Amino acid sequence: MSEITTPRELFVHELGDILYVERQLADEALPKLISEVQDTEFREALESHLEETRGHVSNVERVFKMLGEEPSAEKCLGFEGLKAEHDKMLEETSGDLIDSVDLGAAARTENYEIAAYEGLRRMAKALGEDEAVELLDANLSEEKTALREVEKISTRVSNESAKQAA
Ligand SMILES: [Fe+2]
Ligand SMILES: [Fe+2]
Repeated sequence: MSEITTPRELFVHELGDILYVERQLADEALPKLISEVQDTEFREALESHLEETRGHVSNVERVFKMLGEEPSAEKCLGFEGLKAEHDKMLEETSGDLIDSVDLGAAARTENYEIAAYEGLRRMAKALGEDEAVELLDANLSEEKTALREVEKISTRVSNESAKQAA
């Protein structure tokens, strides 16, 4: 039997999915990336996004409360897949290419978050939850800025490492 039968239940479920991702990023994944990377600009960008990510966790928790629900995380299989892929890439890749691997992981994660928040804000809007839309938009806008930053650094690092290898 289906457990999710209404748009509101689906919204709450998807909210739990992004809560899982944001908590994982704040508690484990971003600190781990920060400890791995060599490039200073990238490390600083990750450190500032870690701060923002802590805010994302509390914004998502606030959306739960607005809906009269207790914040409850749902294991996100998509993010688990991204993490598993990243760990495998680290094993297979030489140390001087770690920044490129981590920039790819960061870009994939930001794109995942952007897709999640765009879906969530659309559902919140349809349900007439305008205050929730505002909080989701705040997170979405920081994810988009973070992605642009990662892409900019990625272009520089790709060019530098291709030059070094030539
Ligand atoms: Fe986030
Ligand atoms: Fe993010």
